[in-house]
Amino acid sequence: MIARRRMLELAAGSAAVFSLAGRGRAARLPSTPQQTAGPFYPLSIPADSDNDLVQIAGHDGIAKGSITYVSGRVLDPDGRALRGARVEVWQCDTNGRYHYVRDDRAGTPLDDNFQGYGQTMTDAEGGYRFRTIRPVPYPGRTPHIHFAVSAPGLARFTTQMYVAGEPLNERDGVLMGVRDPAARARLIVPLRPANEIEANALAATFDIVLG
Ligand SMILES: [Fe+2]
Repeated sequence: MIARRRMLELAAGSAAVFSLAGRGRAARLPSTPQQTAGPFYPLSIPADSDNDLVQIAGHDGIAKGSITYVSGRVLDPDGRALRGARVEVWQCDTNGRYHYVRDDRAGTPLDDNFQGYGQTMTDAEGGYRFRTIRPVPYPGRTPHIHFAVSAPGLARFTTQMYVAGEPLNERDGVLMGVRDPAARARLIVPLRPANEIEANALAATFDIVLG
């Protein structure tokens, strides 16, 4: 009975996570395609793992690359916000190197000022935001940012965000592995100038709909 009660509590807890923030949304939203987490999720989470990947605590310098703000909302198919979910991102630095992983490409330096990984919690509207760099290609891959979303009662969801207009997109096996063009398009977002946030910065909106 204790186990059953615990399950009910868990069920109640996960149900409470969703809130009606998508007012007036009648149509169901198409879900975001799931993508592999790949081999470069950090082996250990860095001491500074906040949502600003451009600036590491205690470092005077900042990451090389084009500063890019990536924000969006985590929603269910009815447009309800998922609040209190953990959103993680990881990506390679401007030299194409992932951090906190075994990467034996000798001769390619790490950008020591790039955090490489960040995490944040969604707010009441399901919103999240990261300050990072515009993703760059590395051998075999078009530019992308890895995402993971986790919350109590939900299976961990992983996907990847891509940049509109990147010439390598059409030759990327992981992206093109999403066969349905409409579904694939939900992983590709435009970058826009965002001088109102920070001089010379770019911004992208990437909403994640959990199926
Ligand atoms: Fe990757």
